[in-house]
Amino acid sequence: MVTGRRLLPTSPSIVSRSHTAASPIASRPGSPLRGRIRVPGDKSISHRALIFGLLARGETRVENLLEADDVLRTAEAARALGAGVTREAEGRWRVVGAGIGGLREPASVLDFGNAGTGSRLMMGVAGSHPITATFDGDASLRKRPMRRILDPLVRMGATVVSEAPGGRVPLSLRGPRETIPITYETPAPSAQIKSAVLLAGLNSPGITTVVERQATRDHTERMLSHFGATVSVAEEDAGRRIALVGQPDLKGTEVVVPADPSSAAFPLVAALVTPGSEVVVENVMMNPLRTGLITTLVEMGAAIEFMNRRDIGGETVADIRASYGPLKGVEVPPERAPSMIDEYPVLAVAASFAAGPTLMRGLEELRVKESDRLAAVAAGLAANGIAAEISGDDLLVHGTGGKVPGGGLVATHMDHRIAMAFLVMGLASRDPVTADDSAMIATSFPGFAAMMRELGAELS
Ligand code: S3P
Repeated sequence: MVTGRRLLPTSPSIVSRSHTAASPIASRPGSPLRGRIRVPGDKSISHRALIFGLLARGETRVENLLEADDVLRTAEAARALGAGVTREAEGRWRVVGAGIGGLREPASVLDFGNAGTGSRLMMGVAGSHPITATFDGDASLRKRPMRRILDPLVRMGATVVSEAPGGRVPLSLRGPRETIPITYETPAPSAQIKSAVLLAGLNSPGITTVVERQATRDHTERMLSHFGATVSVAEEDAGRRIALVGQPDLKGTEVVVPADPSSAAFPLVAALVTPGSEVVVENVMMNPLRTGLITTLVEMGAAIEFMNRRDIGGETVADIRASYGPLKGVEVPPERAPSMIDEYPVLAVAASFAAGPTLMRGLEELRVKESDRLAAVAAGLAANGIAAEISGDDLLVHGTGGKVPGGGLVATHMDHRIAMAFLVMGLASRDPVTADDSAMIATSFPGFAAMMRELGAELS
């Protein structure tokens, strides 16, 4: 099979963390940030575009795919499961599907690196086909809970052939000859659990239903409809009930990936806290299940403007302008967590510059991200002279009204968002902030440092 990397000499390649020494990176306070930028494509949608391309019949064309390590792992796995995946130009990818029921047994281990989303969604795909697939990843992924995915898949007929202690990767999964449709109430507000069950339901002869108490990002539901499946979403007292008619004829189509709001968060917060800054981030996805950070920043008094709202590929996007100004501490309610789950590290940084305390409630799920983000954020704040307390699942950050000491060395624990969040802090703190390793930034935002420098940031 021809792979994208062979086709284009400048194609992105996967970073292997295990063989490289840590490369620290520091940010320094300096000039204001100014300019207009476009951050890369959304990670959640990019994974799904490749996965749906694999499961569809015919050709899927993806524009503005995020060419970052996590997504490249999903592209490799899609190839191993039988899709033809080629990179035609920067961000433009073509997937020739194997079709539902048509997956091939992978010849070797599916190594997902740092990627929770790619691995978990692919477990739903492979675990609903009569093939054996082995999943593995880096030291961070090897710590993350997979029982939350395996439990419903076992109910759907899959067999866990082997697993690392505690339900972790490396694990081998064998799908049944015929997948059983189930009704599943997700035990945690997780789009990854919901998506794994729905993707498994695609290869089952009946209706698969997922009920979620709190709404989580709905990219899988949207993409199911976009590729021609019949899916209904009902808001009920118990939460959102999503019902999918199994074994649809998914047809290859076009997917245009909007800019990732989770990546946009870094330059936007950087502009809000760095004196004299004004930054516009273009084309940012405004899906309401992803914009909890923006809602919170506006409540904190941030000078944020939305321009040029329009629809692209089934999602609303806007250009967002953020300008420096004073922020005030707020209380962030627990029910907002799913819509900003990846943004708490950078919100904690914004909160450290705000006047007064910020209380973030209901952060339980942060403990099972690429790192224990609750602990990593608290430690990073302490290292930079910010008082913060964890109480149960809540985090209280004592804001300084713009006087963040900085000067700390932050342990990133193989977590890209911890690295980027604290690098934002160092742009406006009194002393520089160092992240112990920059390598993981490539899992979601390979051009982060270059883009921030383009805005005027001092990063090295
Ligand atoms: C994602 C869902 C979230 C999020 C992750 C991407 C997705 O995880 O943290 O970065 O694309 O479905 P959970 O659904 O497990 O909270």
